[in-house]
Amino acid sequence: MSGTIAVEDLSEEQAVSELERLAREIAHHDKLYYASDAPEITDADYDVLRQRNDAIEARFPDRVRPDSPSGRVGAAPSGQFAKVIHAVPMLSLGNAFSAEDVQDFVERVRRFFKQGEANEACFIAEPKIDGLSISLRYEKGALVLGATRGDGATGENVTANIRTIKDIPQSLKDSSVPDVFEVRGEIFMTHAEFAKLNEAQEAAGKQTYVNPRNTAAGSLRQLDASITATRKLQFFAYAWGEVSALPAETQMGVIEAMGVWGFPINPLTRICTGVEEMLAAHSEIEAARASLGYDIDGVVYKVDRLDLQERLGFVSRAPRWAIAHKFPAEKATTILKDIEIQVGRTGSLTPVAKLEPVTVGGVVVQNATLHNEDEIARKDVRIGDTVIVQRAGDVIPQVVSVVLEKRPENTKPFEAPSQCPACGSHAVRELNPKTGKEDAARRCTGGLICPAQAVERLKHFVSRNAYDIEGLGAKQVEAFYLEGRVMRPADIFTLEARNVRTDKPLQEKEGWGEQSVTNLFAAINVRRTISLDRFIYALGIRHVGETTARLLAKSYGTIEILRTAMAAAGDHESSDYVELNNIDGIGLVVADAIVEFFAEAHNTEVLDALLEQVTPEPFVLDEAESPVTGKTVVFTGTMERLSRTEAKVMAERYGAKVAGSVSARTDYVVAGEAAGSKLKKAEALGVNVLTEDEWLALVGEG
Ligand code: IVH
Repeated sequence: MSGTIAVEDLSEEQAVSELERLAREIAHHDKLYYASDAPEITDADYDVLRQRNDAIEARFPDRVRPDSPSGRVGAAPSGQFAKVIHAVPMLSLGNAFSAEDVQDFVERVRRFFKQGEANEACFIAEPKIDGLSISLRYEKGALVLGATRGDGATGENVTANIRTIKDIPQSLKDSSVPDVFEVRGEIFMTHAEFAKLNEAQEAAGKQTYVNPRNTAAGSLRQLDASITATRKLQFFAYAWGEVSALPAETQMGVIEAMGVWGFPINPLTRICTGVEEMLAAHSEIEAARASLGYDIDGVVYKVDRLDLQERLGFVSRAPRWAIAHKFPAEKATTILKDIEIQVGRTGSLTPVAKLEPVTVGGVVVQNATLHNEDEIARKDVRIGDTVIVQRAGDVIPQVVSVVLEKRPENTKPFEAPSQCPACGSHAVRELNPKTGKEDAARRCTGGLICPAQAVERLKHFVSRNAYDIEGLGAKQVEAFYLEGRVMRPADIFTLEARNVRTDKPLQEKEGWGEQSVTNLFAAINVRRTISLDRFIYALGIRHVGETTARLLAKSYGTIEILRTAMAAAGDHESSDYVELNNIDGIGLVVADAIVEFFAEAHNTEVLDALLEQVTPEPFVLDEAESPVTGKTVVFTGTMERLSRTEAKVMAERYGAKVAGSVSARTDYVVAGEAAGSKLKKAEALGVNVLTEDEWLALVGEG
């Protein structure tokens, strides 16, 4: 997080805007992690965001936001499964990153009690499993409900899927099982199972999975439980929710009882009498990490006595009686053999380190990201150097630093290419219109003539969250491109017709046969209709990820309306341009990228050809949701009962869009005290004006 102001130097005004930014960013990453199982940043970087948020809140307690991430765990459930309200919320854990943090935790626990009373408070230490937490409800010994954590308060009912997991007993025969007992623990996938699954994916021409955690999460949240059954998920029990009685008075006692009842419990669980033993357990578990065969990302310490746990209670999202002591990112030393330039879908050039293969935390690493040329210069990384490589959690390994003492003679500083390695076009660093600074990434200016960009765009088009065509993964489209079979998206849909005419039919190509070709064409035909948001995402417009694609789909409804509006928005004075910028969540840079995409003649051709083959379905809003679902609201003036933030959060919860300025597209203006120009404009345009109370009544909170 270079360039950010230290928390102690923030003015109150800066703190407010930082808290706003952090809340937004953390919510975004929570959504990717919990709802889409597709994180963009490392767990360590996520922790940095949360820590900064907590530190700012500690300095400015009056500025804690109603939607502060510190009061929330995870993301709301996705709506495909029935909702389950957890009788006892499923909470999260605070983090410790150093021995001092652990010492502080123990002291905090001991200080909580009267002197002497809990000095002997014991802890247990156990691995923190990197999977997904689950709550399993047993009534009279029979499994009746399996629910995901969701946002901690409400999860999803995944009972049918849970029943396919062998580690989880369907019924508990032991006579000591209480009438109601919710076992909680972690579902995960072993490295071996993950590797097997990815081999099968690759062989079937499907996208490979990123890491075991997300794959386990995705496997569990399959609507078809028979798919879950094939994924061989595993389970460890380590906690509990609602219970009619407890089988023991200590954490360790309950864990052992769950073991007796037939649940797998982690064999590395230890009793520790103080900080020293806790840290020793941490070292022991860390040493075992590479040979466990499943991912763990730290050690959890918990107060052992349950009566003390109860008295300690909770602070916002985490218990005071437990903490997660995270592992530092794993590192290794190796030689940098070369620096290769990769060309991305939108032309960004990324330097990639080609390494002498090295094992980092049990995984062989040969490539690592060097981010961009400024980073290379800052770290002074040169070909031939001995470098330290780090792998944190599930992300791409990074080159952290250079071991200068080992630098061979005659190395040269890295020079960024001034030409694209794929097409020879100029490679330049653009000026960011917002900051006035140069972009970190150099870009190929070849655009549509650059074959590397074309291949990356095709790979994106068929990727899992875009067209996701069974049998047509990144490897296959790349091969099709190189053979000239598929040069642009529309060609995918004419493959079958052309296959009859060509002298090189697909079934004669190595790796393909009659059956796989028939299956491929069937899978392609299934995708001739597709939801509008996926369609927009698949186009690969710069800066348009899934969230923005959805916003566009929601705001414009059909591809035709979107295209017409974007063509008109080419004129920055037009109302279409203003409206695009008014969409909450779409900023200037993104808006310009979208307009630019639709203004490019070649894109229009590609799009026309594609639309001859496929039909994006109009985006339909679920009108039943609330009276303001899909409506655009502008808040103005000072309100009595709601802060501006709360009003916005509430409106969004009811499905409304909140805009910053009034236009003919505005459905409601909610005017508080001393409302000024926006109110006048609303009146002039004949937009519905509501008082704060009328608004609250409308959404049913009056
Ligand atoms: S205890 C009330 N123990 O970590 C405390 N959690 O960061 C509940 N996790 O949501 C959590 N291994 O998904 C606990 N041995 C362990 C764990 C563990 C993994 C996960 C769990 C939890 C998250 C909190």
